[in-house]
Amino acid sequence: MTLTPAGVESLVRPAEIGIYLDNSATTRPDPTVIEAVRRALEVEYGNPSSVHRLGTAARRLLDESRRAVAELLGVAPEEIIFTSGATEANNLAIFGLARQWRSHRPPKDLGRPHAITTAVEHPSVLEPFRRLQEEGWEVTFLPVNRHGQLDPEHLSDALRPETVFISTMWVNNETGVIMPLSAIYERLNRWQERFGRRPLWHVDAVQAVGKLPTRPRDLGIDLLSLSGHKMHGPKGVGALYVRRGVQLSPMLLGGGQEGGVRSGTENIPGIAGLGAACQLAARRLAGDPEGLHLRKLRDTLWRLIEERIPGVIRHGPTAPDMSAPHILNVSFPGTKGEVLVRYLSERGVFVATGSACHSRRPEPSHVLTAMGLSLDEVGSSIRFSLSWENAEEEIVQAAAILKEVVAEIRELTGWKPGRSTDL
Ligand SMILES: Cc1ncc(COP(=O)(O)O)c(C=O)c1O
Repeated sequence: MTLTPAGVESLVRPAEIGIYLDNSATTRPDPTVIEAVRRALEVEYGNPSSVHRLGTAARRLLDESRRAVAELLGVAPEEIIFTSGATEANNLAIFGLARQWRSHRPPKDLGRPHAITTAVEHPSVLEPFRRLQEEGWEVTFLPVNRHGQLDPEHLSDALRPETVFISTMWVNNETGVIMPLSAIYERLNRWQERFGRRPLWHVDAVQAVGKLPTRPRDLGIDLLSLSGHKMHGPKGVGALYVRRGVQLSPMLLGGGQEGGVRSGTENIPGIAGLGAACQLAARRLAGDPEGLHLRKLRDTLWRLIEERIPGVIRHGPTAPDMSAPHILNVSFPGTKGEVLVRYLSERGVFVATGSACHSRRPEPSHVLTAMGLSLDEVGSSIRFSLSWENAEEEIVQAAAILKEVVAEIRELTGWKPGRSTDL
């Protein structure tokens, strides 16, 4: 059985949609994904728990998809749990570990349990940590520097014998900063050498999977979340990698699906689509493991912006090992992010202010604020996020439209180079 039927053209791009540069919010489902979802709805619609032929076919599809996700991550299929997306995967990792700890407290009780995360995580990590805090856990939110980068020394300082787990993202969804995972791994190993045990480590890899090689075993990561719709798969499906031996308390109780950790009849169409998306990502990464295509597009976009639009400020580091290839976050002083997004949308260019998952809220971005940016810089920033499907002509065209739109808005606000206008 194949998840990506032959004959499905995978790079068809309906030009009439416009120039889509909001791929960190969501991506266009690939035609191979759509075909896999369609087949699962139309042909393999049995319940994988049923023992008849249709059930067995659905079970095969489930197993096949699990293998595809596992292969992309370089882990065993039994270590993959399907979820309704990364929000659920993150919640399952955090509450699953916390509840497991509560019900299997170590014999030598070390006092109040402690957990660590960073100030720039996605809300689906931050909110569960805040909930743990309300429930009596000690929680440390590690700061980041002006470039959004975590100093691994801060992690070393925060670790305590009672630290049960930590959660750090791989790539930040607003700035594209790659977190220093190797340095974190090294700090956790040092801790292990000193105390004979170390906290478990969860990584939200939503913005990294499919863009960078993501092999949790190489870095000693214990749990890792990913989401289908950020990698040309369907919405409402994701997965949590749980290293063999790590115990999680289930959040959903019922029929005992997914090894008893996540009950509920499996979303076979979504899961089939996720499997196809992982196969696609594996093929693309094999052809371009460094993300050179994306990096070139991103660098071209920044060069054109910097050359043609005065006063712009780029956020996040530029070194290739510290910045994901597909995200560019820029402030356009004298404008407002929301206004820019609307003007650009009218001209057929789609971008985001901050993170799309919460950009409808009026609050300034918690990520850019944690980086110490001024309110003006935060309020005038937009995020461009690219995909393998973007072409250089689109980037050139988007930069030209952007130049006109920024000039138009600045004309209205009376902004002049060298002057900051707090709007
Ligand atoms: C870093 C990160 N984590 C988690 C999520 C949530 O993913 P999902 O939409 O699958 O719940 C997102 C979505 O933007 C994200 O960017």
